[in-house]
Amino acid sequence: MSDFIPEGKIAEIKERASILEVIGDFVSLKKAGKNYLGLCPFHSERTPSFTVNEEKGIFHCFGCGAGGNLFNFLMRANNLGFPEAVQELAKRYRITLPSRELSEAEKARRSMQGRLFEINEVAAEYYHRLLISQKDGEEGRKYLAERGISEEVIKDHRLGFAPSSWDSLAIFLKNKGVPLNLAENLGLIIPRKEGRNQGEKPNFYDRFRQRVIFPIINLGGKVCGFGGRIIGEATINGNQAPPKYMNSPESPIYNKGHNLYGLNAALSAIREHGYVVIVEGYMDLLSLTQEGIRNVAASLGTALTTAQVSLLGRYTKEAVLVFDADEGGQKATQRSLEIFFKEGISVRVASLPAGSDPDSFIRREKRAGFEQVLANALPLVEYLLEQALRRHLIRTVEGKVRAVRELLPALNRLKDPLEQNLYIERVASRLGLKETQIRGQLRGKSSPLTEAQKTSPGPPKGPAHERLLLQLMLLNNHVIPLVEEVVGKDGFTDPSHRKLAREIMNFQEARGKMDVQEFLSHVGDEESKDLTSELLLTGESVMDPDRMLRDCLKKVKLSRVRQEIQHVDEEIRQRSRQGQEGPLSAPGVKELLKRKQRLLVEQKKWIDDSAG
Ligand code: GTP
Ligand code: MN
Repeated sequence: MSDFIPEGKIAEIKERASILEVIGDFVSLKKAGKNYLGLCPFHSERTPSFTVNEEKGIFHCFGCGAGGNLFNFLMRANNLGFPEAVQELAKRYRITLPSRELSEAEKARRSMQGRLFEINEVAAEYYHRLLISQKDGEEGRKYLAERGISEEVIKDHRLGFAPSSWDSLAIFLKNKGVPLNLAENLGLIIPRKEGRNQGEKPNFYDRFRQRVIFPIINLGGKVCGFGGRIIGEATINGNQAPPKYMNSPESPIYNKGHNLYGLNAALSAIREHGYVVIVEGYMDLLSLTQEGIRNVAASLGTALTTAQVSLLGRYTKEAVLVFDADEGGQKATQRSLEIFFKEGISVRVASLPAGSDPDSFIRREKRAGFEQVLANALPLVEYLLEQALRRHLIRTVEGKVRAVRELLPALNRLKDPLEQNLYIERVASRLGLKETQIRGQLRGKSSPLTEAQKTSPGPPKGPAHERLLLQLMLLNNHVIPLVEEVVGKDGFTDPSHRKLAREIMNFQEARGKMDVQEFLSHVGDEESKDLTSELLLTGESVMDPDRMLRDCLKKVKLSRVRQEIQHVDEEIRQRSRQGQEGPLSAPGVKELLKRKQRLLVEQKKWIDDSAG
């Protein structure tokens, strides 16, 4: 499905859809004055602070700060991307979305992809039949039975078997009339080296031989690639043993870093449980599913990629990583954390006893044992803390510094102020530091306090005139360039205000006009979106916007002059100390005093102006 949806259609959906009706499916709403109130679906609360304003077409939770328009709501509630949210609403309100005309090249590409999927399907069926019902599949059946894999799992995951013959698949595909060059593109078969053509035999040999086959199924339910595990002893080939596992190479339909094994089959269980369990191996996933833990996806041994995590992010915002206890597993965990942060997925890390992998563990300890491990999974910060304590010599200053550095990104990203404080306390005490020493570092970084303030109910933060200016900018087109001229793109003092102002200015620049609904649908930054809905709901209707604007801009100028005066004062103080014969003799001080004089005059002018 194409991501391209014409603006006109989006407007039509907005026109027809009722925000009350859609949100009403998730939240029971009661009328309260101009707004409707209910219990927020995005955080747990006892008294309603989730507010919907039908006329403005926005929602905002004054408890957790989540807000936006109808599309934003569906995206958040159902973990959808914008195009999917639009599609869902279009379906509900019976608005047909045009399917974009495909270019010739695009059509050709798609039909080629379709053919490749078909060939993989033929191969998957071939391997599967062999495993479940043919004599040549005996070895595979025996192997999987020994590893305790049930027939049900074999069927559900369409496991297969590739026999030891060099070219049984190649011959099968040829007899089926499959173009062998396409099968080669998929990496199913490999051309023999020149000069080895042998009469009747096809010119290709099979990639997977003597292996259990795991078809990798994409989110459309199609076979995009294969993995194969060797059976029994690796036959020595020259002096190099074949690898334990082998995967399809990259192809026009298989991109290693873009798929997770088993995800498609796990989707409904992931929705049901609200989180995904991530393991490394094929066999790990199959053993867990067999024991009834179905909300699992496998990363296939490599570090998780951004593409994989953002795929997950469409379905859940919570993940539990279960990696081997060995060093490799831990490194992979460390690396993937940043990616989860970016995707807004909260992660816990489950540890298995040394020497176990999820497969061997659940076989031994059964479902109950594994569920215990999941329940004991450590929230990220705690996991990192344990790691840091193990890896660094915490007695030394050096060790403490390294440990804190490692923990800062995670601490910085904790949104809940209570949670953040509790962790700071814990980290400080475990590392033998003062809490203030950690807090100091945090503030220096990405200003977690404003982040915390954002999610805590209470009086709005930041200068009132900046909030007013933002409200004016959101509602009045002509205000935006004026503010940009006077305040500048980065002139707002509060960091969240500054970010939103920038977003508004950029939006106006790109589109030529401001439209709050469109803005909400397109702004990528969550915090800016939440602030927008809050500003729209708390903004009093302004009687005289132009006058209000003038007053606010004056306040901006006034506060700038004041800042500058402080600055000059500080400069004067510093330089005066250097003067050999009294403060005035220091270089530059006289000029600075003159400058201060001018600033004081300007300040007075603005003050008088504001009063008058
Ligand atoms: P079993 O020995 O069958 O239980 O496999 P495992 O999953 O326990 O193996 P391991 O922990 O060694 O590897 C985890 C995952 O990494 C596997 O499921 C594979 O996806 C991948 N992997 C392991 N070995 C290889 C290899 O030699 N080549 C490739 N390409 N992938 C491998
Ligand atoms: Mn294993």
